[in-house]
Order: sequence, then C-alpha cells, then structure tokens
Amino acid sequence: MQESVEKLLKSLSLEEKCALLSGADAWSTKAPGDIPQINMSDGPHGVRKARVMMDAADPATCFPTLAALACTWDKSRAEDIGRAIGSEAASMDVDVILAPGVNIKRSPLGGRNFEYFSEDPYLAGQMAARYVDGVQSQGVGASVKHFALNSQETRRMSISADVDERALREIYLPAFETVIREASPWTVMCAYNRLNGVFCSENYRLLTQILREEWGFDGLVVSDWGAVVDRVEGVKAGLDLEMPGPADENTLILINAVRDGRLSEKDMDACAGRVVALALKCAGAPEARPPRNHHMTARRCAAEGMVLAKNDGGLLPLIPAQRVALIGPFGMEPVIGGGGSSTVTPTKVDVPLEEMRVYDPPVFYAKGFRTDGTPDDALFNEALATAAKADVVVVMAGLSFEAQTEGADRDNLSLPAVQNRLVDALCDAHKNVVVIVTAGAPVELPWANKPKAILIAYPAGQSMGGAIADVLYGIKEPSGRLAETWPVRLEDTPCHLEFPGGADAVRYGEGVFVGYRWYDGRKLAPLFPFGHGLSYTTFQFTDINSVQNGNDITIDLKVTNTGSRTGRPVVQVYVAPQGTAYVPRPLQELKGFEKLRLSAGETAHMTFSLDARSFSYYDVNKTEWVAEPGTYEVRLGTSSRSFFYKQKFTIPGTVRRQFTVHSPLSDLLPTQVGDKLRMMLGEAGVDISIPIVASTPLRALPMFSNGRMKPADCDEIIRLANSG
Ligand code: BGC
Repeated sequence: MQESVEKLLKSLSLEEKCALLSGADAWSTKAPGDIPQINMSDGPHGVRKARVMMDAADPATCFPTLAALACTWDKSRAEDIGRAIGSEAASMDVDVILAPGVNIKRSPLGGRNFEYFSEDPYLAGQMAARYVDGVQSQGVGASVKHFALNSQETRRMSISADVDERALREIYLPAFETVIREASPWTVMCAYNRLNGVFCSENYRLLTQILREEWGFDGLVVSDWGAVVDRVEGVKAGLDLEMPGPADENTLILINAVRDGRLSEKDMDACAGRVVALALKCAGAPEARPPRNHHMTARRCAAEGMVLAKNDGGLLPLIPAQRVALIGPFGMEPVIGGGGSSTVTPTKVDVPLEEMRVYDPPVFYAKGFRTDGTPDDALFNEALATAAKADVVVVMAGLSFEAQTEGADRDNLSLPAVQNRLVDALCDAHKNVVVIVTAGAPVELPWANKPKAILIAYPAGQSMGGAIADVLYGIKEPSGRLAETWPVRLEDTPCHLEFPGGADAVRYGEGVFVGYRWYDGRKLAPLFPFGHGLSYTTFQFTDINSVQNGNDITIDLKVTNTGSRTGRPVVQVYVAPQGTAYVPRPLQELKGFEKLRLSAGETAHMTFSLDARSFSYYDVNKTEWVAEPGTYEVRLGTSSRSFFYKQKFTIPGTVRRQFTVHSPLSDLLPTQVGDKLRMMLGEAGVDISIPIVASTPLRALPMFSNGRMKPADCDEIIRLANSG
C-alpha cells in the first residue's frame, strides 16, 4: 500500500497535491488521475446520505441514538448497530460514516448529548470501540468525532475549552484513546473548538503528538465541517483533509506557503499521502451487499436501552386485561432522534399507540398537551377524563425534537410547564400512573415521587414505538442502565457555575470531578444515579472469587436469574482508592462492566480483569499514567450507588513516590524512614506533635532545630526515603 501511495503522490504536481487536501463538495474528495474518490455521510444514528449539506437525506434505518445505545451497557449491541449501519452505508455507496461521537457529557444541558454516549470515559470508550468494529467489519470506515472537548454547542466554533491536564487525560481523552488503540478507526474528525487557546484543527499536540505518536493512529484526520481556521497551521499540525470542499482559496494559500518556504513539502506530502491511502483503502473495500431491513435490529436495541427507573408494586409490565390509557402527543409522534447532522430520514416510524394496540387493542388515547408548550385546557381536561376510564395511565412526557439539537445547548433542565402540570394532575387523580420520559438528556422531574413507575426512554430511532410496546407489555425487558447521572436540579450539576462559559473561553473548573465523580464526592443525592436501572426479574450474585498477581486482579462470579422471566443483568465494576495520597482523586471510577442474557433460573459466569491502568491516574509531571502503590476497594454492583461485593486489595503500583527537600514531615513520617527521622528529630529536640512542625518541609529543619540538624542529614533522609 505504501508503495502505491508514494507512486500516486509522485504522479501529482504540487498544485494537485495541495488541492487534494480539501474535498470536492459537501461529502466527497477530489479524484485527480488514478486516485479514487472518497464518499462520506453522517451517522451516528444511521446513514444520512444527503446531496447538499442539510438537505433531506435518502431513507435509511434510523437507529437508537448513541445516548440510548449507551444505556444498553452492551458491547455486542454497539457492535450490532455499527455493523448494521456499516452494511447500509456500503449498500448506499458510502465509504466513511462520520461517527461515532465520543465527547463527554460534561453538562446535561449539552445540546448534542443525545449524540454522545456518556459522562464516563470508560463506558463511552468501550461502547464506541465496538461500534467502530461493527462499522468497519463491513468495509466502511468510521470517523471518531469530535476530537476533542466539543462538550458544548454554545460558541462551539470559537470557544476555548480551558481544561487542566489531568481532566484532559483522565476524562476527555480516554474514550478517543480506547477507540484508537482497540478499533483502529480509518479516520478521526477534529473538533471546531479550541483547546486551551489553540484550535483543534491546528493543534499539533492533539493531532500529532497525542493521536499519532502516543496512541499510534495511522489513519486520516478530517476537519469538522468548516472547522479550518488557518490551513497552513492545520497541515503542520497534521490535519489532512479539510471539509467541505472545494476550498480553493486554501489550496492557493497552501501552494504559496510551500513555494515561499512557510510550509515544508514534507508536511504537505504527509497529509496528501494519508488522503491517498484512505482513498485506496475505500476503493479496495469489498463489494456492497444488497440493503437489508434493520428495523428489527433497531427495535431490539431500543428496548434494551430503556431504563426502568422506578416500578413500585411491580406496576410494569402491564397485563393485557387491564384497561390502559395512553396520554401525550409523543404516543402518536415519538421523538426518535434530535436535530442537526445526525437526523436520519427513517424508512418507517413505529407509532407507540398502534404498537400498544397490537398487544392490547382497546388502549385509550388522549393528546393531553401541545408539544410547543402552549397551555390548552381542553386537551388537559380530555386527558383527565380519558385517564378516569382506565386501570393504568401511561403518560409520555419529554423533550420535543426542536429542544435537543446540534448548534444550541439548553438553558434549563425543565420539562415544559404544561407537561409537569398534567403529570401532577394525573398522579393526583389516579393511583396507577406510569410516566415514560423521552429525552436525549436528563430533565428535572419535580413530581418523581408521585407516579408508581418511571421509564426513561432516550430517543431510540424509528422502532422506538414498537420497543415501548414490547417493554410495557413485558415482551422485552427494559434492560437499560443510565449512562449518566440524573440530577435532582440543575444547580447540583458539576459545571453549573461554568457552563457554557464566557465569550471566548469556558473553564473546566470541576476538573476530573465530572458526572458521578462529582455527586459522589459532594455526597449529593441524584434523582437517579449513574448505572441505575431496574429489571422485571431478580438476580443473585454468588461464588465471587478473586485472584491477584501484582497489579493484575481477576474477579469471577456466578449470576443467576432467580425470577420467572428472561432478564439481562448488568454488573458494573468500580475501583475506589483508599486514602491514596499523591493527588486528589474521585472516590470511585468505573473500570469494567458486562451484560448477560439469562432465562428464568439460568446461571452464567462473568469475569472481570483489572490491571495497573485500572488503578492509575495521569501524572502531569511524569506525563504518564501511574498506579500509586496502596489499597484500593474493588466494588461490584448494579449501579454506582448499589453494591453486592466490596473487597480491598493492596497493590504494588507502578511508581514509588519521590520525596524532595520540600516534602513536609507529615509525608515522611509514615514511610520507611519514619523511625529514623523520629529519632533524629528527638535528638535535635524538635517536637513533632506540634502541627506547625509536622507541616514543615525538610529543608527548614536546620532552622527549626537551631542548627542541630544539618542540610546533609536532610539529604540523607531523602536518599533513604527514595531508595529501595
Ligand atoms: C457536525 C459533524 C458532522 C458534520 C457534517 C458538523 O456540523 O459537527 O458532527 O459530521 O457537520 O455534517
């Protein structure tokens, strides 16, 4: 391949090579001479093959949003969806799908959160890697986006995300790192925004040092559509392809920059070579198979991503003999996705009411409220009257399509007042109310303690209506778990005071304490915690065994479905540092998860492997991941707040702490030199029980001991503390 790339490059003039660094139109690359054209289309929720930028696209299966997919906590489902999208892309002559988006949900207000997986980088990275595997198994490339820190829509094309190095490495980059290392995506899309002042589209550190040199990425970097600011700086940084094209002015700028020596031909060739390499890869992909209908694949996944947040008295699943009233316009027109570049033209859309009537023909219906939020007493009264005829009332409340979109963040977490008023009134009037909340991100539920059941359904694609019916009537278990914390109120959220930031920059002041890391540390009770989700059946976790070998720990267990229906248990593994001291750390972090399918009475095994990275933080001085020696609690649970196993392990770690003359006595006394230091201090008449002494650095001891301790004594202590 390298040889053909070089040969083709040699056949091009400087002008042609510069021109190759931008597209031909909205979606494809230029194809000079023998170089094939690359065709790209949006994902991530299906193929959006549009002729011009925001034109209506050709019909394709509209799959669950990544927010819904993440709630399945099922890596094989992520792969299934990726595979289905890849195969539809291939059959539509699309070479690269612009997906998945793996940005971290920093605030629930993020307008594009429905397009992203999680607030947690481990969950996002694992799911995204399998999605990419699925897409690329079909001979279609994936484009992991938006690299990096595109965690808000407000001023997304200019804002600087100002973030500290640990938060960057521990929260915002790992999902990308996992996808690059584990799934080798064909392309990466750089983000619009700046990172600590430098546009991502010309960020050498991000696009070359971290992405290629550290993580070994060997594919193509494409700009987000319109993200290029200074094309020469972009080429120097490693931004290969500018989209959309043609960017004739930038082509001229590049030609001149090479001619007058501001840009080396070598840097330009590197970018052009990667465009040619991708074009050859796309041309070499297997012949497309005829399109298949993936409606049922989407339906299965949609049900498995629905989260049963509450189910008092086992009101769900419904029994067909019950008289059921469905209330809310989303029952007729479900919100299956959000606005912007991920909007797919579905091949068909399941209507929840019709799908419920397949299982239970007499379901009553009332619209109840208007989706634009305008009060309508006639609809309100009709809904109460309809509810009065039923044994169980199912209300579908949530955010409209317009309220969740690329390009704009929300400015509050509320549902429209007309919806809250109706849910309140229905709960006051009826004892059996189920609320289905359909929203691409958390909303405040001020009435959450009133209905017996709450089902959270993120926008789940064209078969969402069928999946809702499956779940309500127990044909399927709603086996989702939340991939993000649902807060009680906006003011509790980690970046509340610093989202969406100022005119030029947004400060990521909460550092690594994003999502549950924040709620845990602040002891804030969320409405529903990260990882939460109930089941229609019950599970038992037994025979938990662990084997430790240095920093490597393996845990296996048996999981039994002790109920009478098929169910899908999810086990989550968290690591909780126990008083480790090098840097402040989250109280616990997700480091593993698995999901099973168990029929009633069935038992199966799960195994989890932890390694040094599972215990590590990013050391900003060493510029590497380090596991501090010490004790860590490993927790196995069914959410971030509910555990069935906690076991402490002491690990050797990967580093030893280094002490200096600036280390206070309180750091040194608990170490191997503690006894010797105590003796020396005693002889020198220094009383370590006085707090002001304990916090003294070694270098000040000669002064505190009236010269009885010498600088050489301090050097000796440091030498001993750092040895062995
Ligand atoms: C979005 C990308 C998308 C691209 C092409 C941009 O506005 O940020 O996610 O792939 O448009 O539609």
